[in-house]
Amino acid sequence: MKIDGQHTRSIWVEDDGWSIGIFDQTLLPHRCVRLRLTCVDDAARAIRTMQVRGAPLIGAAAAYGLCLALKEDASDESLERARAKLLATRPTAVNLKWALDEMTAAVRNRPREQRIAAAYRRAAEICDEDVAINKAIGHHGLKLLENIAARKKAGERVNVLTHCNAGWLATVDWGTATAPIYLAHDRGLPVHVFVDETRPRNQGALTAWELGQHGVPHTYIADNTGGHLMQRGMVDICIVGTDRVTAQGDVCNKIGTYLKALAAGDNGVPFYVAAPSPSIDFAILDAFAIPIEERGAEEIATVSGLGEDGRIAAVRVAPEGSPAANYAFDVTPARLVKGLITERGVIEASAAALARAFPERAQAAQSAAAG
Ligand code: MRU
Repeated sequence: MKIDGQHTRSIWVEDDGWSIGIFDQTLLPHRCVRLRLTCVDDAARAIRTMQVRGAPLIGAAAAYGLCLALKEDASDESLERARAKLLATRPTAVNLKWALDEMTAAVRNRPREQRIAAAYRRAAEICDEDVAINKAIGHHGLKLLENIAARKKAGERVNVLTHCNAGWLATVDWGTATAPIYLAHDRGLPVHVFVDETRPRNQGALTAWELGQHGVPHTYIADNTGGHLMQRGMVDICIVGTDRVTAQGDVCNKIGTYLKALAAGDNGVPFYVAAPSPSIDFAILDAFAIPIEERGAEEIATVSGLGEDGRIAAVRVAPEGSPAANYAFDVTPARLVKGLITERGVIEASAAALARAFPERAQAAQSAAAG
């Protein structure tokens, strides 16, 4: 996607051919700072502190983290140590485990001297696959937006509501929920996006920044606004991303997603989830078995932003001493999801539809469960 008109990805191998570049997303949208990761600890820290974030990008960063570990020491012990360290960074997005499994399979049975090259190759493929998946999601989701546009009077805009950041900053490129929006905009569809702020970490500000960079009309709204807009007929479709879809089609995503789905259901607004296959966990049947990340109370008690002095700082909003709870994700039951926009098409959020669309993944999970 574009920054100041220049096409760029969210993660890349630097010109030295081995260190890894990312944007420090904790400083966006106020400052656009590139960071260089040179060891597995850098990669683990970047994921844990959310310098990189968003399920697919977490997977890509972990893949390159494993490359950096193997570059220092290509032994089995180093591989296992790095895998455990990276896996422990964040609990909810299944893309992290998926990417580490893919990487481990690509290097484990190779002699040590081949492991580094094999790891960098597979990590690059994971990134390219992510881009291809998101483009496919974009094309399938575009049809939904075109159908809405076809029912409108000429020039009337198609209003999309999105939550969190499932944009190119959360992936390697394009984003999942935003891919159909970017394609629609590029094709001249009058698309407009209501962007949920997404407290406490305000990932909506990242989405607004991205959309602005690409020239997509959008409006930044407080998290509690969506229900009001939907009641007034101001939202045509909700599209959100996901950190993990269960084998039954239940959707785990950023906290607050469930409330948007409830409001959408009550108002007849179609609620879609952009779901790339690495975010589908065929091993999990019960959505309440998904580990929900609980983050520090200070994220709730304070708000971070750009001060008048040009510095990024946190200010306290909660009274000193009030306990705070910070659940980072919630579960939207499949019954509230109109469809999953996958790289293989828009499918029902159900066990049968998921198994039909991804038979190889569903069977592999069944075989693993059978032992
Ligand atoms: O805590 P974050 O910022 O990593 O959470 C991100 C989200 O919840 C996204 O909606 C999800 O990862 C999908 S990204 C394509």
